Parts: sequence; structure tokens; C-alpha cells
Amino acid sequence: MYQPRILVMAGSRRREALSRRVAEACALAVRTAGAEVELIDLDDYPAPLYDGDLEAAAGLPEHVVRLQRRLHASDGLLVVNPEYNGSITPLLKNTLDWCSRPNPADSERSGGKVYAGRAAAVVGSSPGALGGMRVLFHVRDILGYLGMYVIPQQLAVAKAGEAVGADARLRDPAQQELLDKLAAALVDGARRLRS
Ligand SMILES: Cc1cc2nc3c(=O)[nH]c(=O)nc-3n(C[C@H](O)[C@H](O)[C@H](O)COP(=O)(O)O)c2cc1C
Repeated sequence: MYQPRILVMAGSRRREALSRRVAEACALAVRTAGAEVELIDLDDYPAPLYDGDLEAAAGLPEHVVRLQRRLHASDGLLVVNPEYNGSITPLLKNTLDWCSRPNPADSERSGGKVYAGRAAAVVGSSPGALGGMRVLFHVRDILGYLGMYVIPQQLAVAKAGEAVGADARLRDPAQQELLDKLAAALVDGARRLRS
């Protein structure tokens, strides 16, 4: 059976980011569901705030081009979202926007082609009680706009600071079961879209 390649990324570069720990739990679940997983740390892909003048003068930043290639080589994306005022973090929006830009030097692996037709899943993460539930609908919308097929399953990880055990599994068995189902649906979706 085809082993899909899934990128997992958290929408925070903060050193102690809770979403990074949740992303580790997601990566493990998706790997267990049968995918080859690459856990992306956006700290390794720094990019300035998108600015059309900057793009016109210097083209795409080197790290954006690197990330576009990772996205293009993947069959799917799982994004773990901290929630900022009920919505997406500027880091994640900036990253998605930069990667959506065409690179004339590599038109096959840039622009909309890095997203289109791939599977996606959204997970929320918050120290609060709602687990970033509100951001999920915004991110789902954006990824859909980019041409991704966002699976219906989603998960909001509340009290994220305490939610992930040392084994990178969610401490709450019911939440871990939901994550496992989400991971299985994402892997299945990525496989179907590939075939
Ligand atoms: C500008 C800003 C807005 C925030 N808005 C929300 C919010 O709407 N909902 C929420 O649950 N937490 C909110 N928080 C708290 C974040 O969930 C918390 O800082 C979290 O730890 C950030 O994610 P990270 O740990 O992955 O960096 C906000 C934090 C910031 C800095």
C-alpha cells in the first residue's frame, strides 16, 4: 500500500510553544496510521513579513523556496494551530501566503501547486479550556481556498501545557482516540487523492 508523505507543522516559533508538543503527538499518531511524517519547525524556515515590494525586488526568500519544495513533495499537511484572538497566528498566515507565491525559477514547485489537490487536517492547541476551537474554522477555510481537501475530523487540545505525556501521546485517552481517528482519516485521504 502506498505510504503517503505528510508534513506536520505548528503555527508558533516560540521556544516553549505548547503547539509544538501537540504537533509531536500529531506526528506520532500520523506515523502510527501509516504515513511517512516530516515534523516541520517553522523556526527552521524564517521569512520576513510578506511585502510585495520585497518580493518584486528580491524574489522569494530562500527558506520559503525550501518550504515550498517540502510541501510540493508531500501528499498532505497537518497544521497545529495556536489561537490568536480567535484566529490564525500571523506566523502561519505569513508562511502560507509566502508559499502560495509563484517562483519563476521553479514554477512546478511553487505557488498554488504546492497545496492543490493535497489532503489537510487542522488541530487547535491552547492553554485555555476551548483548545483553540475558533481558529479551526478560519484555517480550514484558508487551506480550502488554497485547493487542499481538508478532512472533516478536527481536534481542539485544551490545557495544552498538560495535555501531552512524555511518550508524545495525549494523556486523555478519549482525546488520543480522536487524534488517532483524525490521523487515520488524513492518511486515508492522502492515499485516495494520490491514486
Ligand atoms: C495575541 C494573542 C492572542 C491570543 N488569543 C487567544 C485566543 O483567542 N484563544 C486562546 O485560547 N488563546 C489565546 N492566546 C493565548 C495563546 O493560546 C497562548 O499564548 C499559547 O501558548 C500560544 O501558543 P504556543 O504556546 O504554541 O506558542 C493569545 C495569545 C496571544 C499572544
